[in-house]
Amino acid sequence: MAAYPDYIGYFGLKDAPFRLSPDPDFFFPAAPHIAAKEVLKFAIERGEGFMVLIGPAGTGKTLILRLILEGLAPDKVPAVVVSPTVNPSGLLRLILDEMGCPYDGDGDDLGLLLKQFQAAVLDLASKGKELFIVVDEAQNLPLDTIEQLRLLSNIETDRRKLLQILLIGQPELDVILQSPQLGQLAQRIVVREELRPFTRQEMGAYINFRFAKVGRADITLAPRALSRLYRASYGIPRLINKIMDRAFLIASSRGRHMIYDEDIKVAQETLPIPEMTHLRWGWHQKAMILASGCFLLMMFIWTIFKVIRP
Ligand SMILES: Nc1ncnc2c1ncn2[C@@H]1O[C@H](COP(=O)(O)OP(=O)(O)OP(=O)(O)O)[C@@H](O)[C@H]1O
Ligand SMILES: [Mg+2]
Repeated sequence: MAAYPDYIGYFGLKDAPFRLSPDPDFFFPAAPHIAAKEVLKFAIERGEGFMVLIGPAGTGKTLILRLILEGLAPDKVPAVVVSPTVNPSGLLRLILDEMGCPYDGDGDDLGLLLKQFQAAVLDLASKGKELFIVVDEAQNLPLDTIEQLRLLSNIETDRRKLLQILLIGQPELDVILQSPQLGQLAQRIVVREELRPFTRQEMGAYINFRFAKVGRADITLAPRALSRLYRASYGIPRLINKIMDRAFLIASSRGRHMIYDEDIKVAQETLPIPEMTHLRWGWHQKAMILASGCFLLMMFIWTIFKVIRP
């Protein structure tokens, strides 16, 4: 493929509008994102013990986390773990590192790690602070590590809990949290927020918002291009960004000053985009809905008939 020109300069943009990194400056307040952010912020302020944020890949969970961390009260000390395929002692090590008190024992002695962890948490409490543990990509946590987290959450004084836990993960996490080996963990989850892909309307507004952010609110996408983008991305923000970024490159390489349906089509064809049919209604779901609709209509007509001619 021909070398692409620098599309940021070409389109006169202040920045790349569709980067893949979760940048709080580019936060678009779609309804589920606002709800998740506000509910979790409130729960953290109230000192809730266990919280969960679920959402399919690329829907904005890490972005919400960044926004929450930005607005965290000074008495909450965050320990964010992002690569959690670790055993219980590995997790404790990661948390201690995040707290700025690396493990000072030899090997992986779980008892020693727990002792040091408890001392560090009590030390925070004596300074009027509280630990806020976050595990991102928590669907990768082994069961015994989740169980360890549950045990950690029992550390409390007579009067209050000393730490809070937020698990963030893809929908598999829900299933994992229900597993019988985890005892009553599901019952202890006080707050569970969920993100979903954008609706078509939300996606249109999201794209306009990002255009405006980089100083080109005048760029628009034709309805056909929007429809194609929605079909190709399933409304998932990360996929929208990927396709739009590529579409900008393609449009600029062809000397265009707008993004056309054709640019989205070529972008879609040149990018590896996973099939996510479960996010779309298949014909059998549509057929079920149609059949239920017909049944209800027949019941309605039958009832009316009975009332008129009993
Ligand atoms: N409400 C939003 N406003 C602006 N950008 C968003 C929004 N939601 C998601 N994005 C963008 O979508 C991309 C993916 O977001 P993010 O990395 O937070 O997803 P994720 O749910 O954590 O995915 P994964 O499960 O793969 O970790 C990022 O570029 C992010 O900025
Ligand atoms: Mg993420």
